[in-house]
Amino acid sequence: MHVLGGSASTTLAERVSRELGNAPFAIPFRKRFPDGELYLRVGGSFEGQDVVVVQSLRSDSDVIELFLLEDAVREAGARKVWAVIPYFGYSRQDRRFFPGEPVSARALARRVETDADAIITVDLHSPLNRGAFLKPLHEASGIPAIGRLLRERPVDLLVSPDKGGVDRVRRMAELLGKPWIALEKKRIDSERVELYFPPAAPEVKGKHVVIVDDVISTGGTIVESAKLLRARGAEAITATCTHGLFLKDAFERIKAVTDDVFATDTVENPVERASVAPDIAAILRRELAQEGVESEPAVHAATARS
Ligand code: R5P
Repeated sequence: MHVLGGSASTTLAERVSRELGNAPFAIPFRKRFPDGELYLRVGGSFEGQDVVVVQSLRSDSDVIELFLLEDAVREAGARKVWAVIPYFGYSRQDRRFFPGEPVSARALARRVETDADAIITVDLHSPLNRGAFLKPLHEASGIPAIGRLLRERPVDLLVSPDKGGVDRVRRMAELLGKPWIALEKKRIDSERVELYFPPAAPEVKGKHVVIVDDVISTGGTIVESAKLLRARGAEAITATCTHGLFLKDAFERIKAVTDDVFATDTVENPVERASVAPDIAAILRRELAQEGVESEPAVHAATARS
């Protein structure tokens, strides 16, 4: 099995290759044509090999790079192309909210899987997204990675900022053996939210509270959650998420109202303190074992780093 790191996920790809017992790892050669189009080349032959292409989709150019990588790997003879997409962009438009809109998550899913045999992603935004894929989809979660860090810290109460995150916070609560609550969120627009404390919620005064979210984007959700929890007397507030996008000044705004903030490494961010590499590698090992494919490092020459 070979692992290729797209430019949006080079570090995570290398971590995955290490978790797979130092599977051959390479970074494709990339350059821009004069008109701005992307050129890339993968080294060597992948004849008969399973190839794992790791690329988060944070920008439109990440999407094009993934398409080109998948195609290049196919052309190089791969037996099976695994598209590992730690952060699956466009997944928040998971339905048509107004007439005339696309279901962006589905549009992307269908195109990404054209040249892939299986997809691995992490914490898709909603269960609706799963139905968008026609090829085998395996979903890892950031919860175990964040849980590994939280185990070493004082945690009294876990908080989801909205009802959509109940499954996630419940899973974390089971992992750590702690109570949880979900706040009520009303979205005003793409940058502003209002948050409310649920009726009959437990006391937060004097407690170490940890907010668990799937993605931090503008930071509005975490900032408002933290303000609400602080107003209720929370002693310490930690904000955690799987995908730390931290747009514009989100990071500074969150730091100003919390005691700590961290994310996983699905996208590069200033506080990626928990890695999902072991969880992605576990899925690959499990699937290969089921297919009876050897997951130890291949004896074939690794593709050159260029
Ligand atoms: C919402 O459904 C998500 O779980 C996140 O809470 C949300 O996308 C975060 O966005 P922002 O950081 O812009 O508030």
